[in-house]
Amino acid sequence: MKILVTGVTGFIGSNFVYYYLSRHPERTIIGIDNLSYAGNLENLSLLSTDQKARFLFEKADITDPVRIEKIFSKYPVDGIINFAAETHVDRSIHDPLVFLKTNILGTHVLLEAAKNSWHTKDRGWKDGKKFLQVSTDEVYGALGPTGYFTEQTPLDPHSPYSASKASADLVVKAYHDTYGMPVNITRCSNNYGPWQFPEKLIPLVINNALSHKHIPVYGDGRQIRDWLHVEDHCRAIDLVYEKGRNGDIYNVGGNNEQENIAIIRKILALLQEMTGDPRINDTLISHVADRPGHDRKYAIDASKIKRDLRWDPGVPFDEGIARTVRWYLDNRDWMSHVISGDYTKFYDKNYGDR
Ligand code: NAD
Ligand code: DAU
Repeated sequence: MKILVTGVTGFIGSNFVYYYLSRHPERTIIGIDNLSYAGNLENLSLLSTDQKARFLFEKADITDPVRIEKIFSKYPVDGIINFAAETHVDRSIHDPLVFLKTNILGTHVLLEAAKNSWHTKDRGWKDGKKFLQVSTDEVYGALGPTGYFTEQTPLDPHSPYSASKASADLVVKAYHDTYGMPVNITRCSNNYGPWQFPEKLIPLVINNALSHKHIPVYGDGRQIRDWLHVEDHCRAIDLVYEKGRNGDIYNVGGNNEQENIAIIRKILALLQEMTGDPRINDTLISHVADRPGHDRKYAIDASKIKRDLRWDPGVPFDEGIARTVRWYLDNRDWMSHVISGDYTKFYDKNYGDR
């Protein structure tokens, strides 16, 4: 079985490649990524020899229909998991266009290529195919002080990023409703773990603290996110891909809502304990202007995936965050390649011209 996975050199995509290839020793991944600033092939440098043989990398942009069609002609594609996206909310505020292109048009290009390859007028859809769209809890907008997002919560995105993800979800739904394409959509809360680009809160805090730089806290820092270890997200996606009911949406979350400021203080305390460096402390915290349109609170009701697919978040937050901080301390070379920009040379060295 060959599954096409996009966004494989990003944070969750690369974690998923490790997870999937070890969980399914007989399967192969056709991995697509355009190696945008967020794509880093070094994230996949720990694949074993056996895993490498089952990982076929194609540098490709999902917004390029010709290139994507070629990949479909080159390989028999049994299914698609679409992680590829522009993902950083702050960037979407400054430069929305690339978010609309990649997240909406790119998703459409993949859907169209899959339809052309999997569907014929006479015989309908080939058996066993599926398109899984990896979406986000941000499509639901922001909660007040109470409540949870369920799969029935109306879409109410606020940032260009979340609007583009909500739009992509609707295009996926349209392919299901109009053409009968087998699809699932997952909507997950904030992930943390190894290989995350240090523009995102947790690796940014770790990286700044290690260099004794200030930690920019947007507004009062009391915004709430639900943090889930990336391994738990990967397991959820694998389960939905295997067992999700055709056409259904599944929320995924950790039941772990915390204020940003609490997360930041916890990381600083862990770093101080692990490094013994007294200069890493709360005085590094610096409140800065709030993110425009900042969603105050996200919280996910994941009871559907728990009930129907028997998924549960397995990594307790205190253990997961300590492991994550340790990982970034043990992988300072990885971080320094990202910060210096050297990570962009990894493709040239290992795969040819970038
Ligand atoms: P990321 O930014 O780390 O990775 C995205 C990957 O997509 C990168 O490797 C990038 O190079 C690639 N990419 C971007 N544009 C592309 C294009 N046009 N063609 C091919 N590849 C392209 O993001 P992530 O955090 O790993 O998120 C992966 C997916 O999960 C996204 O769809 C995101 O919306 C979703 N998601 C993320 C989180 C989270 O907390 N990080 C939570 C829920 C859902
Ligand atoms: O909820 C899922 C989403 O989580 C994903 O869909 C997105 O792709 C992913 O980037 C993430 O979005 P957030 O905006 O929640 O993540 P970020 O790490 O950018 O910020 C987390 C919180 O921390 C948010 O409330 C903003 C705040 N923040 C962030 C940064 C980078 C700060 O206070 N200071 C910062 O420097």
